[in-house]
Amino acid sequence: MFENRYLIISVTCFNILFIFSNIWLFRRAYEPVINSIKSVQYQQQFVPILYNRVPKCASTLMKMLFVKQSRLLNFKFLEAKVYTEYKLNQVEQKHFVNKLMNNSKTLTLFERHIYFIDFNRHQHIQPFYINLLRNPLERAISDYYYSRYMCTVKRKTCFRMNLAYINETLDDCIIRNENQPHVCTSLEHGVHSAIAFFCGQSSYCEGYKTIEEALWQAKSNIVKYYKLIGITENLFKTFSVMEHVLPQFFANISKLYLRQKKKRIWETPKAYRIEPNNRTKEILYKALKYEIDLYTYVKRRLDRRYDEIFSAKKKIE
Ligand SMILES: *[C@@H]1O[C@H](CO)[C@@H](O)[C@H](O)[C@H]1NC(C)=O
Ligand SMILES: *[C@@H]1O[C@H](CO)[C@@H](O)[C@H](O)[C@H]1NC(C)=O
Ligand SMILES: *[C@@H]1O[C@H](CO)[C@@H](O)[C@H](O)[C@H]1NC(C)=O
Ligand SMILES: *[C@@H]1O[C@H](CO)[C@@H](O)[C@H](O)[C@H]1NC(C)=O
Repeated sequence: MFENRYLIISVTCFNILFIFSNIWLFRRAYEPVINSIKSVQYQQQFVPILYNRVPKCASTLMKMLFVKQSRLLNFKFLEAKVYTEYKLNQVEQKHFVNKLMNNSKTLTLFERHIYFIDFNRHQHIQPFYINLLRNPLERAISDYYYSRYMCTVKRKTCFRMNLAYINETLDDCIIRNENQPHVCTSLEHGVHSAIAFFCGQSSYCEGYKTIEEALWQAKSNIVKYYKLIGITENLFKTFSVMEHVLPQFFANISKLYLRQKKKRIWETPKAYRIEPNNRTKEILYKALKYEIDLYTYVKRRLDRRYDEIFSAKKKIE
């Protein structure tokens, strides 16, 4: 009897000790995790995501997926209805920045075709920028015919295009501009520069004569402010990195994409897309040298990020 009581007391003492030591061990083991969750929530409550989408890089597909994601994961997805004004004056910039920052109380993903804006210059923290890029030759061809389709068939916008060349095919444009083929991939001919989207609002970001400087600035902004830039040619890798880098917005987005019936969205009907001949393509490829430089740079960055994430995961397993 006496011994039994001793046994119960000592077992109870041991249990209490055991429980306390476990709680202590648990806290120690998970403290970094708990703290990192806190800091992520803290950050993301106040830092909006800005997808300043480059035209003709699967952005319609992305938009569709983001709308669905926003319902599943309960964040706000705001889509701008402005499709043509990428370059804003100081007053418009300030208004845009304030509007975006007004949403910083909730998790927000904001999307608009717009050149990079430096929020620090407007006394605000920088948002987390994201974007997608596509092979520059394919993108230029797509943009060339999409702009014409929007201007002549849909009669929606002929933004900054020279109407004298509105019916010209890309092949004809290259023949007419034999000595300056880069003209055919300019805004005047309905093609946007991806470099300008990453470079920003300064006028040198758009000019062909200043393209080296613009490219340098674009890369600098990418390193500093872009959480991720996907590649249209490798959506699987893009989604895998997205899921990892910003799970509050993109968790399980690969599965969503795989369940999606439409794997690709053509906005320009086939009748209005004219495949250029091989000679035109070769010439354009050379003319797009700087755009290809940026694309290669972004692609390598995505590959590196993907390898980092998945080799680290393998080590844990
Ligand atoms: C931001 O919010 C404030 C206060 O709610 C409002 O007065 C202001 O007009 C908003 N700014 C923009 C650009 O939406
Ligand atoms: C382009 O084609 C349309 C329809 O054929 C025609 O009405 C228009 O005048 C043409 N524009 C130019 C600049 O050639
Ligand atoms: C992602 O999918 C897995 C498996 O279907 C599920 O367990 C998990 O809760 C999902 N994550 C989110 C954030 O919805
Ligand atoms: C154009 O190039 C593609 C791929 O390099 C090739 O398959 C095709 O035969 C070429 N077409 C012509 C007309 O030379």
